[in-house]
Amino acid sequence: MRLDIFSIFPEYLSPLDLSLIGKARQEGLIDLSVHDLRDFTHDRHRTVDDTPYGGGAGMVMRPEPWGEALAHLMASGEPGAVPHLLIPGPGGVRFTQAMAHELAVEPWLAFACGRYEGIDERVIEEAEAMMPVTVVSVGDYVLGGGEVAALVMVEAIARLVPGVIGNADSLVEESHEDGLLEYPVYTKPPLWRGRGIPDVLLSGHHAQIARWRRDERLKRTALRRPDMIERLDLADLDTRDREVLAHLGLKDVDQFPADPSAVAD
Ligand code: ADE
Repeated sequence: MRLDIFSIFPEYLSPLDLSLIGKARQEGLIDLSVHDLRDFTHDRHRTVDDTPYGGGAGMVMRPEPWGEALAHLMASGEPGAVPHLLIPGPGGVRFTQAMAHELAVEPWLAFACGRYEGIDERVIEEAEAMMPVTVVSVGDYVLGGGEVAALVMVEAIARLVPGVIGNADSLVEESHEDGLLEYPVYTKPPLWRGRGIPDVLLSGHHAQIARWRRDERLKRTALRRPDMIERLDLADLDTRDREVLAHLGLKDVDQFPADPSAVAD
């Protein structure tokens, strides 16, 4: 996968030299380049921003450097190759694990990291005439710029690229993969500061362990993310799932008594 990131703070993207992604780059699984937007300016001050038409607070990124950066991006690809441009912004569509999966199979992604109050809207129109463009938000809060959001998205996407994570099994049963949060995990020592681990995990009984983990996922999701429980499809839930949720007073409450104490830990 090829990735190009444009920013006025290229150093902000330096964590991409480290850990999983740093290794994937060294191994050639990911071809990632970070570009300084100011390299596409021509004035002495390398200006990238100006005051907003119509007035208002803050500054807006001027279109000219972005126009040149996008032209440079397009010209750098194989003939006929077109990147999918992602523009991080709090006003974008919500980035999700499902989107990460869709993007992880694309051959070429580019990120245009804006700062200040955003990028002149004509840049987005111009880009849309050349390539698929998606404005993406990583959450309902406002960051100082697109760089941290790009880091978030690149990490979520890159770890799904085949080969980046050695053991692909670790990608299943993760939070947000199937509408449930992940189950609690434990490692050695078996007793730590007086705290043990659930007996079932030492039982060697794989079916019981799987069931316990599923129960924990349901309970944790109900507690922390009731909105995710609302989105579950009842058709995907087995009888025991329905019991667990019913005992928590959620989903199918008519069918099962709402008695949380009846669900064994
Ligand atoms: N830039 C500023 N806030 C952002 C957010 N929430 N998501 C993506 N990019 C942003």
